[in-house]
Amino acid sequence: MTTTDRTPDRAADADAAHPITRPDAQVHFGVFFQGVNHTTIWSDPESGSQTDFASFERVARTAERGLFDAFFLGEGLRLRESRGRLHDLDVVGRPDAITQLAALAAVTERIGLVATQNTTYNDPVDLARRLASLDVLSGGRAAWNVVTTDNAWTGENFRRGGYLDHARRYDRAEQVLATARRIWDAWPQGPDGRVARVEAHGDLVDVTIDPTTPRSPQGHPVIFQAGDSPQGRDFAARSADVIFSRHGSVLADALEFAADIRARAVAAGRPEDDVKVFPGTAIVVGDTPAEAEEKARWVARQQVTPATALHVVGTIWGEDLDGYDPDGPLPAHDPAVAELGGEGGSSTTGARTHEVAARWRALAEAEGLSIRDLVIRVSGERGFVGTPSAVADRLVQFVRTGAVDGFNLSPWLVPSGLDDVVDRVVPELQERGAYRTAYAGTTLREHLGLRAVARRAGTGAAGAREAALARV
Ligand SMILES: Cc1cc2nc3c(=O)[nH]c(=O)nc-3n(C[C@H](O)[C@H](O)[C@H](O)COP(=O)(O)O)c2cc1C
Repeated sequence: MTTTDRTPDRAADADAAHPITRPDAQVHFGVFFQGVNHTTIWSDPESGSQTDFASFERVARTAERGLFDAFFLGEGLRLRESRGRLHDLDVVGRPDAITQLAALAAVTERIGLVATQNTTYNDPVDLARRLASLDVLSGGRAAWNVVTTDNAWTGENFRRGGYLDHARRYDRAEQVLATARRIWDAWPQGPDGRVARVEAHGDLVDVTIDPTTPRSPQGHPVIFQAGDSPQGRDFAARSADVIFSRHGSVLADALEFAADIRARAVAAGRPEDDVKVFPGTAIVVGDTPAEAEEKARWVARQQVTPATALHVVGTIWGEDLDGYDPDGPLPAHDPAVAELGGEGGSSTTGARTHEVAARWRALAEAEGLSIRDLVIRVSGERGFVGTPSAVADRLVQFVRTGAVDGFNLSPWLVPSGLDDVVDRVVPELQERGAYRTAYAGTTLREHLGLRAVARRAGTGAAGAREAALARV
């Protein structure tokens, strides 16, 4: 769940006359499993395990049946808590992403497998090897969602990594990713039978390594990046194949974000369409618009329990609001802290609490909202709500106006939450000629329509230079 005030205004969106700039663009889907901070609805009788392999397999197979590009796992390395009590909706424990995806590689054939792995606490050599291994074992279906992980309390779980500030985390991310790429590019062997040695000597990464993992059919793992600050966006614009964002439910917001990323890519010397834009969002469908709206309201209410509502507001206010009535008004006093350190999750880090509180108070007063109603109102983006046909029209509009390249869908139920999308929305998209009817390629890079990876090392001038350096 995110805390944003950008609640979608679908009616206003639908009226906006945004030109179709990419008339043949296709809708692409990934399925997004959040880390431990999931928004699944535990109270639903259909809600299944978040740790049993059977749940992951069921979702992955459903997504593959729906010809999705990717199965995408977030990463949460510490459970959210408030004064020693875990957040009531969080998933208590998750298997390691790469291990889990390796198991899924064995029971799927085409779908991409995306592992979120942070660059703040991981070792680049180990990470490059494990991701390349997943890529080789899956026949070229692996991707790495590069994240910096934004909170000190997660850092406390890692003795070695310590905690770096925001700018240094991105410095380390650049160095870790560049090192991993050089390790992957060191393959294949050069004419002399040697794999190029990689020397990477930065202030945050300092390694000398003779790589041991061969290339996969897609060259090396696809790179996703998730970070929304100017530094995060620039990092993606320089180095990522895909940016995973939160800007995917309101058309004007999504268009603005895509334009920003394209401008940054061009400034970094890349073609503007080199970075694919894949926001996270959700889909709720019903037989009629009213039924879909009703269901969406129910979903939002289940995702914001009374305890969750008090936790979210308590995070901004910097205090435990346990004594407050979630169905009553906001605290009458102002927040105790000026700025947040991220204990409430990535979306609140650095938030200026007095500004947020003033905005929320104004909204609550204007609309007569209780604490819980307010959190429902400002939490997350409801995404796409409507009949399968209306939702399909909206998704096509997003893609063909150039706002997004695809959507990373978060099911509100595990493991059955994707069924509606695959069985009811995908056929509508196919009827509109806006969705594949079969996988054309075998690798994730092909599904996403990315350029092939240049085989640098061991070939051409760059390869000769690397090989020469390797012998020094
Ligand atoms: C859409 C999105 C998804 C993210 N998913 C994760 C995640 O699964 N695990 C994680 O540790 N951090 C995740 N992050 C947090 C980023 O790694 C980053 O630390 C955070 O957004 C702060 O960087 P920023 O100021 O550039 O946004 C995510 C961020 C975004 C925008």
